[in-house]
Amino acid sequence: MYLYFLNKQNLDLSVAEVLALANSEKYELVNNCLLIDELVDYKRLAYTKRIYKLLFLTDKKNLLKDLKSFNFNKVYKKSFKLSLVNSPGYDVGELADIIWDNLKNPKADMKNPKTILEIIFSQKIFACLRLWENKEKFEERKAHLRPYNHPTSLHPRLARCLVNLSTSNQVVDTFCGSGGILIEAGLISLKAVGYDTDEIMLKRAKKNLDSFKIKNYELHNKDALKVNKKYKSIVTDLPYGKNSRVKDLEKTYFEFLNNSFNFVEKMILVFPDFVNGKKLIKKTGWKIKNNFSYYIHKSLTKEIFVLIK
Ligand SMILES: C[S@@+](CC[C@H](N)C(=O)[O-])C[C@H]1O[C@@H](n2cnc3c(N)ncnc32)[C@H](O)[C@@H]1O
Repeated sequence: MYLYFLNKQNLDLSVAEVLALANSEKYELVNNCLLIDELVDYKRLAYTKRIYKLLFLTDKKNLLKDLKSFNFNKVYKKSFKLSLVNSPGYDVGELADIIWDNLKNPKADMKNPKTILEIIFSQKIFACLRLWENKEKFEERKAHLRPYNHPTSLHPRLARCLVNLSTSNQVVDTFCGSGGILIEAGLISLKAVGYDTDEIMLKRAKKNLDSFKIKNYELHNKDALKVNKKYKSIVTDLPYGKNSRVKDLEKTYFEFLNNSFNFVEKMILVFPDFVNGKKLIKKTGWKIKNNFSYYIHKSLTKEIFVLIK
């Protein structure tokens, strides 16, 4: 059993992201700890902070007894460090001593341990072996740090998560702007296809993609409302100008949804919350698989929809 330690802020998105990459939908969620049987293609994940192998599950009454009896030699390599996550006052040294006594050739190493053991205190207590920590530099790829900025470009972490929700090996962004979503697809070796009707935006997207040394991409000066090729999935952040009237946006979105229905299998769409996305989608043939709210700032929340047929 594996434990995915998730970002708490966007918990429902974090869970959906892992499950999209898993073969089974079977899971248990305890606070922000997601338990599943599988190790997914984890290096691409956006909202998982760390992944562990679950060694045993216990509670306050049995913690010390279980630490004494578990055979840590099974997972121990050369040296170890124990950390406690959200501990309600346990002494890490005392618990580490129990593990030390349990090992055949114990060696502690606080700087570069070969075995990282962690005890996560949640509604339940999980004793774990750390397998992976997410060190992806999403913050360094924020829009204003790229060669060409676009003020409404999504946070790279969110863009990556949307790409993962699509589960396709080709990501098509039909309103690609400066290419934020395409960059995240390209960085995990998926083919990236972008449409935009603004030639300047396409040039910017090209510069941005090139700056990340992404090679497998296509950019087209093409109207998103006129998709006429079969695609497995579209991942896009719908355009909304501050000055556009909600009625005009609704008309554009509706046309886009209806036309794409004939060519695309799955869509991951980001709506501004001032347009009633759910109502619009229901007027089309698309089915809503998932819906998440993502807070941007006081006056804007985005609504994310995963649409299937
Ligand atoms: C919200 S921005 C996309 C931001 C993008 N996610 C990024 O990271 O830069 C919307 C883009 O949609 C483009 N656009 C608007 N209407 C379009 C249409 N009918 N077809 C294709 N692109 C369109 C605009 O030119 C603009 O670049």
